[in-house]
Amino acid sequence: MSNSKIPAVEVQGLTKSFGSVLALDGVDVSIGEGEYFVLLGPSGGGKTTLLRVIGGFIRPNAGKVLLHGHDVSALPPDKRPTTMVFQSYALFPHMSVARNVGYGLRIKRLASKDIAERVDAMLELVGLAGYGARMPHELSGGQQQRVQLARSLVLDRDILLLDEPLAALDANLRKDMCLELKRLQETVGITFVHVTHNQEEAMTVADRIAIIADGKLIEAGTARDVYERPVKRFTADFVGENNVLGGTLVAVDKSKVTIDLGFGRIDVPVGDTVATEGVPASFSIRSELMELLPADGKLTNSTQTLNGTYREAVYLGIFISHVVTLPDGTAVIVRKISGGTENRRFERGEAVKIGWEMTAARLHMS
Ligand SMILES: Nc1ncnc2c1ncn2[C@@H]1O[C@H](COP(=O)(O)OP(=O)(O)OP(=O)(O)O)[C@@H](O)[C@H]1O
Ligand SMILES: [Mg+2]
Repeated sequence: MSNSKIPAVEVQGLTKSFGSVLALDGVDVSIGEGEYFVLLGPSGGGKTTLLRVIGGFIRPNAGKVLLHGHDVSALPPDKRPTTMVFQSYALFPHMSVARNVGYGLRIKRLASKDIAERVDAMLELVGLAGYGARMPHELSGGQQQRVQLARSLVLDRDILLLDEPLAALDANLRKDMCLELKRLQETVGITFVHVTHNQEEAMTVADRIAIIADGKLIEAGTARDVYERPVKRFTADFVGENNVLGGTLVAVDKSKVTIDLGFGRIDVPVGDTVATEGVPASFSIRSELMELLPADGKLTNSTQTLNGTYREAVYLGIFISHVVTLPDGTAVIVRKISGGTENRRFERGEAVKIGWEMTAARLHMS
């Protein structure tokens, strides 16, 4: 790391529209040198556009891109310290693995001996030592993906931009490749900016995650931050399996607020949030932090409670999701480990009660 104070990537006020579509709407983001940074969000949110603006493939309407402190806004992709890994494998089908990996070095007119050495080193790094003579069609999807990575890494740029690099892989392979990507990034130590709409993938690889939706950066933080302490309602909805309930703020205390849902009042810790009485507000609680009991049962770990009607159980392998309907019709999910001792059977239509410890809830003012 040359100068850890200067971010590898700094984006200021980026705006990009395609016709009437506002793909990026004033995005600011700062990515540290050597950081594994993930852009996570729903389809159409602007992730690819942001990545392509950083790489120089798209010119923004407004805003700046600084890479290692230098304004690169006017530079084309090949004059930037970035290299991009595209979603499709995009290997040259008629070239061997080694020739694919060495392609960029041949363009730079390096000596063949140097190219061969670096190609071998890269293939070793991505776990494909000895595969140089194979043709792309003789490789599995995961192996092709690794060749693509090797082909990008061999260029020795400081910032690797990856757009949905694992999207074409099946779920198991995706998990393995996630761990490999993480290991690879730790080994080479350069900055990775990785786009995905897959939450588990994001949480596996990321040092930090930025939630991108509607052309905006909603919030950024570690995987734990966005999962356990989402600030925005959108993040709570998008990450994990949160129950988000909304109402009116009826009382604001130093440490907690009270939200009136119309069919019950709930206390929520206020944290650092600025809250004012009389305005709409919501809160979220992760489904696995909730208790579910018959209406006359005794809650053991909960200080907050609501009455509801049992709807159904959805079996998900490790988990069972119990669906409960609240008096206003909102469905709430209570997730339990399958086979756990507390998994009592409930009947559809049975009166139940849900509860949670106050500190499990997060307040969202927007
Ligand atoms: N070249 C283009 N011309 C017109 N509209 C575009 C173009 N590229 C992107 N858009 C629009 O900009 C918005 C953001 O697109 P973008 O590809 O950045 O989303 P994304 O977050 O990468 O989505 P996905 O997860 O589906 O890949 C979308 O509404 C998209 O239709
Ligand atoms: Mg995309």
